[in-house]
Amino acid sequence: MTVPLASGRDADVYALDAHRVLRRYRAGGDVRPEAEVMRYLHRLGYPVPEVWRAEGSELELTRLSGPTLAEALRAGEVDVRTGADVLADLHRRLHALPARLARDPADRVLHLDLHPQNILLTDDAPVVIDWRNSAEGPPELDTTTTALILAEAATDADAPLAALARELLTHFLGEVKTVGLLDEAVALRARTGPHGPARLARAAALVARVGRR
Ligand SMILES: Nc1ncnc2c1ncn2[C@@H]1O[C@H](COP(=O)(O)OP(=O)(O)O)[C@@H](O)[C@H]1O
Ligand SMILES: [Mg+2]
Repeated sequence: MTVPLASGRDADVYALDAHRVLRRYRAGGDVRPEAEVMRYLHRLGYPVPEVWRAEGSELELTRLSGPTLAEALRAGEVDVRTGADVLADLHRRLHALPARLARDPADRVLHLDLHPQNILLTDDAPVVIDWRNSAEGPPELDTTTTALILAEAATDADAPLAALARELLTHFLGEVKTVGLLDEAVALRARTGPHGPARLARAAALVARVGRR
């Protein structure tokens, strides 16, 4: 028996029992690369769910309990400054670890989708999920991609959370202090995100504007 827990943009997540979840890609795809990154990071003590099985489009993971950072911000359980600190700290700790594959000594493991919906606030600590876009490269690409994702939300005129996303962006950039590789981040989001060129251009302009201050 499996109990549906959540459906994200790409995956359905089911509770297998009190301790494990099954995460399955609706459109198929091979989970092995992301499972390898998660196992590697888990061994190094980075907060990711433990992988119990990875086969085809299915991942079996330790079941975590707690709201996403996005839910906690929306509910006012976490203030914007703390939320930005959590985001920046998870980037800093990830980028302090050695890369697994890359030869360039400056390269690191990158998440490339590290936004408040992919952080679960467990009783112990924040844990990072959803490693599908993970790659290795310059850390700045990761922080700039997160800034761009926040700016995408901030430039949605209809979204009730646009103002919150804008504030989060300001505090996040106050922490990371750089928005290098913005063109590369835009190209990445054009491939992996939901928005077209016009929206991405507006979001990038906002990142550049806030980053300059
Ligand atoms: N290990 C886990 N334990 C508990 N819930 C999880 C776990 N992994 C994912 N979830 C739930 O499923 C949702 C979507 O997961 P995610 O990996 O981000 O998939 P998507 O690619 O669809 O965004 C999360 O927001 C969370 O509610
Ligand atoms: Mg997700």
